Amino acid sequence: MKKIFKWIGIVLGSLIGLILLAAVILYGIGYARMNKTYDFPPSGIVVPTDEASVEHGRHIVETTCISCHTADLGGKVPFIAVDGIMTLDSANLTSGEGGIGGEFTDEDYVRAVRHGVDPEGKPIYMPSVTAFARMSDEDLGAVIAYLKTVPPVDRVTNGFQVEPMGYIVFPLGLFGNMPVEDVAHENNVAAPEPGVTLEYGEYRLAISDCRGCHYPDLAGGKYADPTFDILVPNLTPGGELGSWTEEQFIQTLRTGVTPSGHSLNSNIMPLDEINNLTDDELRAIFLYLQSLPELEQVRGQ
Ligand code: HEC
Ligand code: HEC
Repeated sequence: MKKIFKWIGIVLGSLIGLILLAAVILYGIGYARMNKTYDFPPSGIVVPTDEASVEHGRHIVETTCISCHTADLGGKVPFIAVDGIMTLDSANLTSGEGGIGGEFTDEDYVRAVRHGVDPEGKPIYMPSVTAFARMSDEDLGAVIAYLKTVPPVDRVTNGFQVEPMGYIVFPLGLFGNMPVEDVAHENNVAAPEPGVTLEYGEYRLAISDCRGCHYPDLAGGKYADPTFDILVPNLTPGGELGSWTEEQFIQTLRTGVTPSGHSLNSNIMPLDEINNLTDDELRAIFLYLQSLPELEQVRGQ
């Protein structure tokens, strides 16, 4: 009898030991990936100062940044919080107290938006970097120009705070990769001429990060954040959009109500930003969406 207890003790003890060892190894991997230092050649982007460029920058910020950084650009506290794992605030982009506005050099902005790293070269967890890597030098320069003119907001934000358990679950893929690990890191990025064209529609959709939620093939699926139980619709002609006119598409994004009378959840779908797109930009996006193959929604039905 005693022998059996001894063996059970040894087996249990070894198991606990193994689990602890695995946790320590995972922690080490997670910590190293999140604290790695990256170095990228400077973009050489020359930030314009003329009024038209600043105005253009404002339009891009109001159509791509405010859903996460809030309308006054002072940042959201917290942006995401998962108990025992991590808290993430979006940064205060102004020059007020707690803001990065007074501190960032032009290349620091480029590092954050195009590459996904902070001024020291450490990864930041800004999800849309995977989309912003496509933003042209001209558009990014205009964004930086505008950010330098925004009124200061005093709001202290704490960036990405990871608990020990966060480092352990990160290598298991529970919250994806750090964006810096996923983007191409190219400089000299160009954009198609603005206009109601398929090419510009694709570009506008890309930098608005519609794919971040509607999936890379735009056929939709279950919303990636498991704390919400919502299906992100199919935007290809295989979804409801297949039977919409351009007017109905614009109407839906302006009012938040679809032709079939469904009110879109604006807590997730960033209507505040999308409503700032011009009619021509929405037309271009619709043109692009209608050109896609008719895909079926296969994820999360
Ligand atoms: C999907 C949400 C989201 C969008 C859209 C977004 N951001 Fe962020 N941004 C974040 C979060 C979250 C952080 C904090 C990341 C961290 O500290 O790891 C952040 C941080 C930043 C930082 C600070 C980086 C640093 O080193 O501390 C800058 C600069 C920035 N964002 C600029 C922008 C600009 C410009 C846009 C629009 C072109 C934009 N962001 C759009 C979520 C977003
Ligand atoms: C942060 C996630 C997110 C982003 C980014 C996003 N969407 Fe959505 N979108 C959703 C969700 C979730 C719904 C469904 C809302 C509901 O049913 O209440 C939705 C619904 C829609 C619908 C309604 C479709 C239908 O069949 O009912 C359209 C059209 C749409 N989005 C277009 C876009 C476009 C265009 C972009 C980029 C400019 C975009 N979305 C960016 C999450 C997002």
